[in-house]
Amino acid sequence: MPVISFANAKGGAGKTTAALLLATEVADRGKSVTIFDADPQKWISHWADLPGRPAKIDVVSQITPASITEQILDASEKADYVIVDLEGTENLVVANALSVSDLVVVPIQGSSMDARGGAKILTLIAKLEKIVKHDIRHCVALTRTNAAVTTRALKAVQEFLAVKGIDVLMTPIVERAAYRDLFEFGGGLKSQDPKTITNLDKARENAAMFAAEILERAEVQPRRKWYQVFKKAS
Ligand SMILES: Nc1ncnc2c1ncn2[C@@H]1O[C@H](COP(=O)(O)OP(=O)(O)OP(=O)(O)O)[C@@H](O)[C@H]1O
Ligand SMILES: [Mg+2]
Repeated sequence: MPVISFANAKGGAGKTTAALLLATEVADRGKSVTIFDADPQKWISHWADLPGRPAKIDVVSQITPASITEQILDASEKADYVIVDLEGTENLVVANALSVSDLVVVPIQGSSMDARGGAKILTLIAKLEKIVKHDIRHCVALTRTNAAVTTRALKAVQEFLAVKGIDVLMTPIVERAAYRDLFEFGGGLKSQDPKTITNLDKARENAAMFAAEILERAEVQPRRKWYQVFKKAS
């Protein structure tokens, strides 16, 4: 039911990786997931064509600015979770998807460029909140952090976010080979072989903690409950 979108106006922030990690974690918990692949590079659609895709995960690749809102809302009637992987820009698809999201996750790498791309999305969310007349819950996920050290750039980004009073997940997504391998070999972290991937146990633990934090924030907004009543009646 909840719709969780991943957005950052800057490319390469780690949106697609974070979206797929969440989807595979949710499927591991026995829940169904529909992923909307609105990233023009279609990484998640390619992943879905590889072996090992959990049966609980569906991927929708055909999206248009005019149809995405209704597609997302309809999917949220059927799947336990809807996850939307957005393009690294600001456009109509991004705005429409954010306006029907229960939670927007803004992945930010520890660099000022990424933080600026994230800030653009936070400004867009504030504008959309005025249009849709309700709050759109959002949080920042720090991505590709170093497991061993905290860099000066990352500290600067953390301070920038704290000053603005932005909700930042306690669990950053660490830089792990296991996360890149998902797009190469398919499946989820659960199906990977610990003998061939270094620190797979740490990657699994990191992904599970990241997903848990997101899921506790993702509740269906009250207006969506009206949409459900309306759809059932029509
Ligand atoms: N936590 C991570 N560990 C290792 N590699 C990562 C991690 N996060 C992202 N990457 C790698 O960084 C690159 C960019 O990541 P990703 O595609 O997830 O970003 P994106 O924000 O979706 O990019 P785009 O804006 O182009 O859609 C990819 O090659 C991906 O494999
Ligand atoms: Mg992407």
